[in-house]
Amino acid sequence: LPPLKVAVAGCGVVGGGVLGRLLADPRYDVVGVLVRNPNKVRDVACPQSLFTADADELLSRKPDIVLEALSEGEAGHALIRAALEAGCDVASANKQAVSRDPGGLQDLAKLKKKRVFWSASVGGGAPMVETVRAARAAGEVVGFEAVLNGTVNFMLERLGDGAAFSEALADARAAGFAEEDPSSDLEGLDAAAKVRLLAFEAFGVSPAVEDVPRDHLTEATDASGGVRQLGAAYLKDGAITPSVSLSADHGDPLFSNLRGEGNALKVYGADGRVWRCRGRGAGRWATTESIMADLAEIVRLRRADAGLN
Ligand code: HSE
Repeated sequence: LPPLKVAVAGCGVVGGGVLGRLLADPRYDVVGVLVRNPNKVRDVACPQSLFTADADELLSRKPDIVLEALSEGEAGHALIRAALEAGCDVASANKQAVSRDPGGLQDLAKLKKKRVFWSASVGGGAPMVETVRAARAAGEVVGFEAVLNGTVNFMLERLGDGAAFSEALADARAAGFAEEDPSSDLEGLDAAAKVRLLAFEAFGVSPAVEDVPRDHLTEATDASGGVRQLGAAYLKDGAITPSVSLSADHGDPLFSNLRGEGNALKVYGADGRVWRCRGRGAGRWATTESIMADLAEIVRLRRADAGLN
């Protein structure tokens, strides 16, 4: 079989990791990499000709699969739609992109007989989307609670140990946990996007971002006593109540034992069953492995479609 043609969108913490893995794997032919500045010096060895700043040009290179890891929601959402329209399968690590309209993206993928996967958008290497889907496949889901932001979890631990706020934030950025604009982490917007996406998986409906109240992590936050940032959504009487809150009262070692960039999830079934998962929620390699797993699943399904499995 000829190598599959893959395009990568974004070459930051996640996109750069994905690109490195693809370039080292003869099963894949990287046809293009979408970046803001093609001339920037990067931490991954990649032929210069692969870089382009133009999304249309990227798709004109006729990739079979697009791996989307941009940091910006609107551009990412537009690219995913354009890629599906152009007949590509897509895997995205961009929570701000896929949480906008996950149902619309799935409908478009179905119409085009393509796939759109987004496991890497929530929980980094922790299989959160998969866990919610398993719970939902087993029966009605009535709620979930989760630590969804590695930067805030890492910072709360450091602050609780007495570190200065600026130092804890600088360390989270240096480790590749924080967003390009870390106010998205600190103000709970990153966690809110993940709550919206998990709510879609759990209940089939994604709440609007303005309906997700958020506590902000600031220098004034009291980080003592095992405070955690919890993203949650509950379904009651047909209404969904989402939130992102800072709380020391989460009552579960699953959350209180989380160290560093750890993320964890609890899903509640209507019949009283509870599903849990945890893992490394942020950082280059945890998230890269998650998007590579989506890629492997896309390849498996493409082969099955072609009668090859
Ligand atoms: N900034 C995010 C976090 C990256 O800290 O969790 C992973 O989505």
